[in-house]
Amino acid sequence: MIRLVLTSVLAVTLCLPATAQDTGSSSGVSPVQGLRPVSDFDDIADDDARSIAIFEEMGKVLTHPRCLNCHPKGDSPLQGDEMMPHMPPVIRGDADFGAPGMTCNTCHGAENYEIVGAGGIESVPGHTPWSLAPIEMAWVGQSVAEICEQLKDPARNGDRSLDEIHEHMAKDGLVGWGWHPGAGRMPAPGSQAAFGELTRAWIDTGAACPA
Ligand code: HEC
Ligand code: HEC
Repeated sequence: MIRLVLTSVLAVTLCLPATAQDTGSSSGVSPVQGLRPVSDFDDIADDDARSIAIFEEMGKVLTHPRCLNCHPKGDSPLQGDEMMPHMPPVIRGDADFGAPGMTCNTCHGAENYEIVGAGGIESVPGHTPWSLAPIEMAWVGQSVAEICEQLKDPARNGDRSLDEIHEHMAKDGLVGWGWHPGAGRMPAPGSQAAFGELTRAWIDTGAACPA
């Protein structure tokens, strides 16, 4: 009996990346990998209050180092869970893609690249494209409420409609990298699919922002 329980717990754990949404909504077990499913917010009757609560949940992803390291306020990327300055030092450059001769893709390839580092297997993150979020999309140092207002502002969100914001959250490959960041790096909470569902539900409830 005990072994049976342990085995199924293990199986569920191993299956999580692929089935996080299903597991979350059907079992009532939450949070899934640190992110609560949309169904957890069903019993908040007021639309505004539900929208705000859902956005606060989204904030766990938006303020995660995997996202913030590429959405810095300054002139260079950050790295690691401690959000330290990028080593080696690199600059944003005119196109958020580094200095001439030292562009981001000099070192960041199409995929994560594993290396044996001092602490075991580490990796150089990789994805195409790979560049810094433009300065008007900087999130570091902002509250979740401030990020919320910024996300809705076409002047600071790449001129996106709310539907396009949903599309970006749910489908964009760089956003998705946050859940597949390579060896030695903690993924963002939940899954991109679950995060996409939260974004959809936030928009459908009026896209309200925390005060
Ligand atoms: C490797 C760098 C990188 C990482 C990692 C990254 N982003 Fe971005 N992000 C960008 C770039 C570059 C843009 C601008 C692209 C554009 O406007 O088409 C952007 C734009 C965005 C936008 C649209 C503009 C806005 O601010 O409203 C959203 C939303 C976004 N990112 C969400 C995320 C989330 C969520 C994560 C983490 C799960 C993340 N990003 C991780 C580089 C990154
Ligand atoms: C000279 C090589 C080099 C260049 C150029 C370079 N990087 Fe990096 N970058 C690395 C290495 C190596 C790491 C892994 C460091 C580690 O985790 O110990 C890294 C890590 C990162 C991380 C950390 C990811 C995380 O969440 O921990 C981000 C973000 C990043 N780079 C963005 C950029 C951007 C944007 C550019 C261009 C403006 C760029 N890098 C240019 C070598 C480089």
